[in-house]
This record gives sequence, structure tokens and C-alpha cells, in this order.
Amino acid sequence: MDRLYLSPPHLSGHELEFVKDAFASNWIAPLGPMVDAFEAEMCAYTGAENALALSSGTAALHLALLLLDVGPGDEVLCSSFTFAGSAFPVMYLSAIPVFIDCERESWNMDPCLLEKAIEDRIKKGKKPKAAVVVHLYGQSADLDAIMAVCSRHEIPVIEDAAESLGGLYKKRHTGTIAPLGVLSFNGNKIITTSGGGMLLGHDAEKIRRAKYFATQARENLPHYEHRAVGYNYRMSNIVAAVGRGQLKVIEDRVQRKRAIFDFYQKALSKLPGIGFMPEAPWGRSNRWLTCITIDEKPHRATVEQIRMTLEKDNIESRPFWKPMHLQPVFKNCPSYANGVSEKLFNRGLCLPSGTGMSDNDLARVIRCLTAALNV
Ligand SMILES: Cc1ncc(COP(=O)(O)O)c(C=O)c1O
Repeated sequence: MDRLYLSPPHLSGHELEFVKDAFASNWIAPLGPMVDAFEAEMCAYTGAENALALSSGTAALHLALLLLDVGPGDEVLCSSFTFAGSAFPVMYLSAIPVFIDCERESWNMDPCLLEKAIEDRIKKGKKPKAAVVVHLYGQSADLDAIMAVCSRHEIPVIEDAAESLGGLYKKRHTGTIAPLGVLSFNGNKIITTSGGGMLLGHDAEKIRRAKYFATQARENLPHYEHRAVGYNYRMSNIVAAVGRGQLKVIEDRVQRKRAIFDFYQKALSKLPGIGFMPEAPWGRSNRWLTCITIDEKPHRATVEQIRMTLEKDNIESRPFWKPMHLQPVFKNCPSYANGVSEKLFNRGLCLPSGTGMSDNDLARVIRCLTAALNV
């Protein structure tokens, strides 16, 4: 049986045309017209005012934090239920992530807990410098509530929309609502450039400043003059060509991801003890991964045994992200936990959600999973 992956790349067929154009024009060097066009097309799709194509989403987050002057010893509020790449850049700046647990409606940062955490940090004499808010598995956080809490305390917000391109919050694209937002085009994302990211921003001057940092902080002089530490974070012209080919089909990809979720839900929700990631009323999730919860009681198998059974059938599935406040690397960081993400982590499984999967592939996963549940 062919292997079914969690979320592999899915080519649109347009990528090669753009890559050929890049080769034909000899723009093999980093930057170039494909990068400019990819940024412009992303702005047109999402409604972002400004965009900067970068080598990864992690690089985009690092630059976003730099723009907000986050430095050694500063505290940054971070979603706990996420991939570590959304908190690592805080550490690159010798700052301290402060983790906030999630609510049940969207599995994203809990605005009430956030408010309590901010008040507590302020009481301890440490007002947080920024907040990085994740849109988990393609579903937006409750941004109005979160941004209201942060703006009351004058704390700038960065949206980590690495997983949620095409996801909407009140009809607006995730990543474009806060002053700064971050996208990822890593190999497993809804569209991919094989690796890459983008910084979105309301303020052209801020994005210009990020571009300066991303290109080795080179001053505008004929010789190489540097007054700040820079990074080599820009996207290459070839990589951007792939991105343009992918972006052409983003809406088809969102529709297929959502159809995959619905297909699984229709087949599996009648089984005892199986739950699905809810869709919050405030937006459209891109359903990047179909996430199920498995209550072990009615079944004889544990979540890990179920994962292993799928694996034996050459089907990749994955536990949910292990919350950051439970990760050894962050053991010394403050956290505000309510038990929600820990419970989800203990019961969660991400199912194969590649947009290239056929309905037969999905039926194969459902058959194997049903047998694995031993019901
Ligand atoms: C929530 C989240 N933040 C940040 C990242 C980092 O993006 P990248 O892999 O492009 O560096 C990822 C995924 O890779 C992610 O899922």
C-alpha cells in the first residue's frame, strides 16, 4: 500500500512555468522579480498592505519581534498549544516566552487567561513587551478579544498565521488583522515553496525596516556599511516562483482541506468517544489538518496504539502539538495553564489531510482507524 502522509506538498502544475521564467531571465540569484510578484500576489489574496518574502516563518517571527524592540530579559506572551517554532524566536533574542493556555472553542489562546497573566506579570514588575498569537491548525484565535486585552495594556500583537493561510477571522484573512503577521510555506503547509515564510504588516516603514534586517543590515551606500546586526533571511527568486504557482490554487486547497475534514467527520463522528476540532463561530478554518480526539474509555486501544496501527498500514498520523509549557526546553519559562491543551494533547491525533488524497485514500484511513479502535 502506498504511504499516506500527513500533509505532503501538492503541486498545482503552474510552478514549473514560473521556475522556467526565472531561469530564462537568468534571475537565479536571491531576490528578483518573482519575489516582488509573490509578495504583491499575496497582498492581493489576503488584503495585507505590505509583505516581505523570507526564508522561513521562523525568520519572519524573529524579524517581527525585532521590529517591536524585543530584547534580552523582555517577556513575550505566547500561545502554549502550538509548534515550538512560534516560541523559539523569542529565545533567539534572549527574551522570555510566557505561555498562555487555550480555550475550548477554538483551541487557541484564552483571552481571559491572557488578561490574568498580563495583570500578574505587571504585578510582578514585568510588563510583557509583545504577544505572539497562534491560529492553530488553520483556525483563527479570538482576535478581537485578545487584541482588546492587549491594547488595554498597550502590548503589540503578532499573528502567527503559519498554519492558517486561507483561514478567515470575521471575513478577514488571518495574518492581516494585527499590525504584524507571519506565514509559513514549509513543506507540510497548505501551500509550500519547499521552505519559506512571509512577514505581513500594516506599516510600510516597518516592513522596509524588516527588509533591511533580512538583507544583512546593509546601509544604502556604495560600499558595505553596517550599523546594526543583520540576517540573511530573504527568499530566493526560484523559491518565490514555486510559491506563485502554489498561490494560484490556494482557494481550491482550502475547499479540499475542508471537504477532507467533512468526509472524516461524517464517517467517524458516529463512533463512540471520537471528537473533532470545533470550528469557532468567528471564522473559517482552512482545516490544515483534520484533528480528532479519542476518548480511550469506550475503546480497547490507546491513542498511541491507534497511531501505531495506522503506521503499520503505512498511514502517517501524528499526536497533537505537545504544549510548550510542558516542553523541557521551556521548563524555566513562566506559564498560565488551565489544563485544556494538556488534555487535548493526551487525547489528540492529526489524520492524513493532504489535498492530493482521493476519497478512496480517505476511506482507507477510515477503515484502518475503525479497526484500530477495536469497536
Ligand atoms: C504555528 C507555527 N509557527 C511557526 C512555524 C515555523 O514556520 P517555518 O517552518 O516556516 O519556520 C510553524 C511551522 O512550521 C508553525 O506551525
